[in-house]
Amino acid sequence: MVLNPLDLSGRSFLVTGASSGIGRAVAQLLSQLGARLLLAARNYDKLEQTRESLEGTGHRSESFDLSKTDDIESWLVSTAQEFGRLDGLVHSAGVLSTSPLRMLSRARIDAMLNVNLIAAIALTRAYCSRKVRTDHGGSIVLLASTMGLVGQPGRSAYAASKGGIVARWGLASHSTLPTASPIFWETRGVG
Ligand SMILES: NC(=O)c1ccc[n+]([C@@H]2O[C@H](COP(=O)([O-])OP(=O)(O)OC[C@H]3O[C@@H](n4cnc5c(N)ncnc54)[C@H](OP(=O)(O)O)[C@@H]3O)[C@@H](O)[C@H]2O)c1
Repeated sequence: MVLNPLDLSGRSFLVTGASSGIGRAVAQLLSQLGARLLLAARNYDKLEQTRESLEGTGHRSESFDLSKTDDIESWLVSTAQEFGRLDGLVHSAGVLSTSPLRMLSRARIDAMLNVNLIAAIALTRAYCSRKVRTDHGGSIVLLASTMGLVGQPGRSAYAASKGGIVARWGLASHSTLPTASPIFWETRGVG
């Protein structure tokens, strides 16, 4: 018998930002490896498009606004009670605005910090609950960016939010991000 070390049969994962881009691609790959997926983002129709593109059965779409950071823990606990406990999560939801700082509204800064960084912390906290994670533990993948390492003109708030992820991943023993790869993917706008 040949064992596949990447076999995720019987495993369940949350993928945020699964309505688009990298999150959608991650969900598709995890499903091809046998995982059951809980897909989260705001746009339910696009989540359903992702769900229909997945291999296997038992996947679920959950419309949720991750900028509502105070609600994340209760949302994840109640969702996991219905969906089943999770073997891990991938936080791919992200917001990017490219603009000189003086032209960037406070609301836009808040959106970037909340979705990119505060939501990542809240999801990690929620995942530590035994009501959310499986007994054998699991993996948390937080999408960072090279901007979090080097910054870029016009992207200071985005870089700050991703820099917070870069700093955190040394602190969170659950996080699994082996390298920060200087690669850009063409998606609908976050970079
Ligand atoms: N593309 C790149 O080259 C690149 C490079 C470095 C890092 N990254 C990081 O990779 C991640 C994915 O980027 P991408 O390029 O795939 O971006 P994308 O195609 O624009 O996808 C962003 C995702 O975030 C979700 N999202 C945004 N605001 C949200 C909110 N308030 N609540 C819930 N979901 C929200 C969007 O869904 P809804 O609109 O449906 O809510 C969408 O699914 C981001 O964290 C980004 O910073 C990307």
